[in-house]
Amino acid sequence: MVERQRSRRTCLAVPGSSPKMIGKARGLDVDQFFLDLEDAVAPGAKDQARETVIEALNAGGWDGKTRTVRVNDLGTRWTYRDVIEVVERAGAELDTIMLPKVRGTDEVRWLDLTLNQLETALGLPVGGIGIEAQIEDARGLVEVDAVAAASSRLETLVFGPADFMASINMRSLVVGEQPPGYDVGDAYHYTLMRLLMAARAHDLQVLDGPYLQIKDVEGLRRVAGRSAALGFDGKWVLHPDQVEAVNELFSPSQRDYDHAENILEAYEWHTSAAGGMRGAAMLGDEMIDEASRKMALVVAGKGRAAGL
Ligand code: GLV
Ligand code: MG
Repeated sequence: MVERQRSRRTCLAVPGSSPKMIGKARGLDVDQFFLDLEDAVAPGAKDQARETVIEALNAGGWDGKTRTVRVNDLGTRWTYRDVIEVVERAGAELDTIMLPKVRGTDEVRWLDLTLNQLETALGLPVGGIGIEAQIEDARGLVEVDAVAAASSRLETLVFGPADFMASINMRSLVVGEQPPGYDVGDAYHYTLMRLLMAARAHDLQVLDGPYLQIKDVEGLRRVAGRSAALGFDGKWVLHPDQVEAVNELFSPSQRDYDHAENILEAYEWHTSAAGGMRGAAMLGDEMIDEASRKMALVVAGKGRAAGL
């Protein structure tokens, strides 16, 4: 079920094993959070983390944020139990499940069918729980178009840059930064564009992953600015210090937002009977037409969601 209206400028990663960090997450100004059962939780802590996550969802207090749980990937022994326990015991308090390391349609179809069964058995609206598919290796990227079309529950494609860099042997240890020696452009351009095209072709949102140098807000701005400029909907944040910059980068500026609203207003008037039913018209020195209206709608939609 596509919820294009959900704002996802900031998606906060919260280790599912840490009640303290879960408590802090409630007070942060993020659009979305995910309680992690995957890589932020040590293998020996998985069972306890599941309990903590279920308790945290049922305790509520999330203030309209999109509530997501990242389950373990289907190459592990934990995934089915993550999904069944979380949905059986907290499914009514959950908006989406994030599935990591998706490499093809089978994983997404498995989750879709399992959720169908769970929702039916529990009396929850069927299709109500969305899916977010993380693309984290070369196989996932090659299959991304099919993945994006694999379920009507899909809401987002999510880039996992750390696992992705490891999977393709990229020669850099700083996630999101350019590998030394590659000085002919942005080493992430192809991957980001590939994800963006697959997402937009299937009317999904698309999120950039984490920036791990949490004290380097300038670095974060540089890396997040690239995906924001291309048209990504948001990016993960790992720490309170990252929230403000990412919210700002993925919101339109006040100036662009006001301009977009002006275009929409002018276009509506010019195409009306009173305005002469013109398909193209002038707004000051600018020619506006149906394509301008569509571009303005995107900016206005993001600005309205950001409360501008
Ligand atoms: C996130 O999961 C990443 O691998 O970057
Ligand atoms: Mg990962």
